[in-house]
Amino acid sequence: MLIADIDGAGAAAQRCAIQADGGAAAAMAADVGQTEQVEAMIADAVRRWGRLDILVNNAYPATEAMSGGAEDVPPEVYDRAMAVLVKASYLAARFGVPHMRRGGGGSIVNISSVHGFLAARGALVYETGKAALIAATRQMAVEYGRDGIRVNAIAPGHIVTPNIQAAMWDANPSGLDFITSQYPIGRVGRPQDIAAAAAWLCGDDASFVTGHTLVVDGGHSIQLQENFGVQQAHYAQEHPGTQLPY
Ligand SMILES: NC(=O)c1ccc[n+]([C@@H]2O[C@H](COP(=O)([O-])OP(=O)(O)OC[C@H]3O[C@@H](n4cnc5c(N)ncnc54)[C@H](O)[C@@H]3O)[C@@H](O)[C@H]2O)c1
Repeated sequence: MLIADIDGAGAAAQRCAIQADGGAAAAMAADVGQTEQVEAMIADAVRRWGRLDILVNNAYPATEAMSGGAEDVPPEVYDRAMAVLVKASYLAARFGVPHMRRGGGGSIVNISSVHGFLAARGALVYETGKAALIAATRQMAVEYGRDGIRVNAIAPGHIVTPNIQAAMWDANPSGLDFITSQYPIGRVGRPQDIAAAAAWLCGDDASFVTGHTLVVDGGHSIQLQENFGVQQAHYAQEHPGTQLPY
């Protein structure tokens, strides 16, 4: 597995974690919004292992500047964010599909979000990018099915990664309790939930699944809005000291 991330040190740390678990991994610094760097990323993977079987598009350009509505987001920030949220998957397919085809097939997994189906205030760029990724997933599934290449997406709900734990919940444990209470399954997501979904989509058990966006959100987004709103109001009445990070 080649881990490519704009944060080269972070990619190297993930490589070490995989190797410590007995996996084969390499790491490189790459900006997946840049054409030449995606081309180099694919070339590096093929040079190391001689083939390309799986491609996961996961990068997320966390920046405050992309928050807001159409009047708030500067054009250059919009373009830069879309390059990572959307164009990166096109670039990876552009350079990766020929290798997959040559190897007899492969699997592409695009990490979208429940935000690709639903809308939140102040999130024009994210909602647009994640919805576009779902559309690209479908188109590529149709385009490359005959090549034995399956293309699927995952739409995670709230996944408490180490970054999110540190940025949002370490200082607001009562806020995390509130979010957790919204999940029918009784917990928020873990990174392993998404890894397991990606592994399943890439495996033979999913050999007839393509063009699909798998919602992995513990049932959060299927709740009837009216009942859900009332449930939240009850929670707020019963827990008046709840602290929220946003
Ligand atoms: N965590 C959640 O609750 C959640 C929910 C729904 C969807 N997602 C999606 O899951 C994916 C991973 O999210 P996360 O929470 O782990 O985010 P994260 O911010 O922890 O990780 C994103 C990674 O992308 C890298 N990155 C940013 N810009 C890049 C670029 N130009 N080129 C290469 N790498 C770049 C960052 O360095 C970082 O390592 C994202 O696509 C995100 O939208 C996350």
